[in-house]
Amino acid sequence: MKNIRMKLSTRKYDIFIENGILDRIGEYLNKCYNGSRVFIITDDNVKKKYLKRAYDALGKGYKVESISIKPGEASKCINTYMEVINKLLALEIRRGDLLVALGGGVVGDLCGFIASTLYRGIPYLAIPTSLLSQMDSSIGGKTGIDFYGRKNILGSFYQPLMVLIDPEVLNTLPPRELSNGAAELIKHAIIGDSSLITLLNNKAQIDEEIIYRSLMVKARIVMRDEFDLNERMILNFGHTFAHAFELEKGYLHGEAVSIGILMALRLGIALGITNKEIYEPIKLLLNKYGLPVEEYDYHEYLMKACHDKKNIAGIVSFILVKDYNEPIIYKIDENKLKDLR
Ligand code: GLY
Repeated sequence: MKNIRMKLSTRKYDIFIENGILDRIGEYLNKCYNGSRVFIITDDNVKKKYLKRAYDALGKGYKVESISIKPGEASKCINTYMEVINKLLALEIRRGDLLVALGGGVVGDLCGFIASTLYRGIPYLAIPTSLLSQMDSSIGGKTGIDFYGRKNILGSFYQPLMVLIDPEVLNTLPPRELSNGAAELIKHAIIGDSSLITLLNNKAQIDEEIIYRSLMVKARIVMRDEFDLNERMILNFGHTFAHAFELEKGYLHGEAVSIGILMALRLGIALGITNKEIYEPIKLLLNKYGLPVEEYDYHEYLMKACHDKKNIAGIVSFILVKDYNEPIIYKIDENKLKDLR
């Protein structure tokens, strides 16, 4: 078992990483929740795989209800938000009751947002069941839904009561889903723990140790910049480019991040900022984890990246790395982008 203690201004809480923790939810919940009513939010796929286990693991001490949504990003919307809240109110949820997000990023972001707004905030427990959500969205308290055609445009920073991560759920993920999450994991290794690169190269599968080391990188950054005002932007390494073509090319998020990381490295090398020796080993590692490593021309996407939400008053922030463990926020005037070669 591995444990990360998150110390934030709004809440202090634990992330536990343990094989089989899904069967011990009740035991862990006892440590942080005194109430008796639990409302699980999940999706129709995760429901089939894990809902009964979750009920069994909560045990007889809790009165448990569950609500399942349709799987997929389309459910991260105002309609599903309202539907779930209607059901919760019909089930007479009260202010001290607990929500449980059992699922991937969509369930986690939606459930967290409901938790942060219902009765001005009720507690929630995060149990991420995809590698992508274990690596990223379940950690750090970003919650939200998509609206007006824009991702995460309605949201809040709202920390969970606890996060339970079971590496064993990865054994049954489709390979493409595993790769999807591996991109964030590799991103953490590049920006904050280069010895994790060696582990990722040497180990045959993603385990407790790898998940812990990767999450420590994100946890440290979030603890220094809880509200994403400065340093937390570093977590967007590879994302500025990825957002520019993720939808257009039909990639999963992690796949686009993989290509975005390579673009950011090439941009950094062209600017004389990035050590060029790290490019090939990173490309090989991304490839080892089944991620696309196509080398699109980054110039084409520089201007598109300007329209990303990180463009503040004509200044675009690119996250580059000088070397392993040395990320930088590189600010450039939108008007000068076209001169970049
Ligand atoms: N996904 C990046 C962050 O949590 O800040």
